[in-house]
Amino acid sequence: MDIWAIANQKGGVGKTTTTATLGALLAEEGMRVLLVDLDPHASLSGYFSLEDLSGMGSVYELFRQHHPPAIASLARSTGHSGLWLLPAAAPMATLDRQLAAHKGTGRILANALTMLNNVYDYVLLDCPPTLGLLMINALAAAQRLLMPTQTEALALDGLERMLRSMQMIERSMGRVLPHWIVPTMYDVDAAHSRVSLMSLRERYRHAVTRQVIAVDPQICEAAEHGQPLTCWPAARQSTESYRALLHELLAAGRTFTEASA
Ligand SMILES: Nc1ncnc2c1ncn2[C@@H]1O[C@H](COP(=O)(O)OP(=O)(O)OP(=O)(O)O)[C@@H](O)[C@H]1O
Ligand SMILES: [Mg+2]
Repeated sequence: MDIWAIANQKGGVGKTTTTATLGALLAEEGMRVLLVDLDPHASLSGYFSLEDLSGMGSVYELFRQHHPPAIASLARSTGHSGLWLLPAAAPMATLDRQLAAHKGTGRILANALTMLNNVYDYVLLDCPPTLGLLMINALAAAQRLLMPTQTEALALDGLERMLRSMQMIERSMGRVLPHWIVPTMYDVDAAHSRVSLMSLRERYRHAVTRQVIAVDPQICEAAEHGQPLTCWPAARQSTESYRALLHELLAAGRTFTEASA
């Protein structure tokens, strides 16, 4: 089971879109995929019309101090073959306050995921844009980190903060977290976008994926209709970009595994 965290401390950079699309593409390739919505705003759950309205359980329950339910019982089908979702719920926003005085809360998600016994091939963790208990749990559980980064100057600050958080977790866990920066919302016609992409590549070199995701209004359209890009024909070009990104990441992951074996 391969666990990927999708995170950036800047909001609105394409984290949820990237999670939903890579998940749908992996499922299309015959993989069993669990998406985990770690954002109290529940955008990923909304994407699949699976907000926790029915009280059937969410990520929140995993953090219950007494008798948390088995993680497997919380996963719901998205209606797309091979793709399941563990939804978010608004009370997750109170977890930092509730658990502030408790020790050992950083590995709750990692421990819960080990109980899945490889039922899934991939688990993708969609993070909130803030460094708190939920993001710390995601970074502690993940085997790799993807950082979607909008190709504009302001977004680079969020990325710097994210990289510092990653290094902090790496130090406390005593391990390296393989990571990739994914340039998103790239506008080839806008000078500021081209300059941002260039400075990303100069500064972070091989950590930046070759494949970029262009700005595409059809991505918003698909999200508004609750459809992964793979099911939205008008977003075909963006779907193909994400497919190329997926293959690049899979190949890079193999290289990394071989190098560290
Ligand atoms: N490549 C793109 N081109 C145009 N719009 C995009 C693109 N990627 C995402 N969007 C849109 O931008 C908005 C933010 O995207 P998304 O929700 O994926 O970002 P996020 O990083 O998860 O945001 P948040 O930090 O609020 O969770 C959404 O409306 C989404 O449909
Ligand atoms: Mg999001």
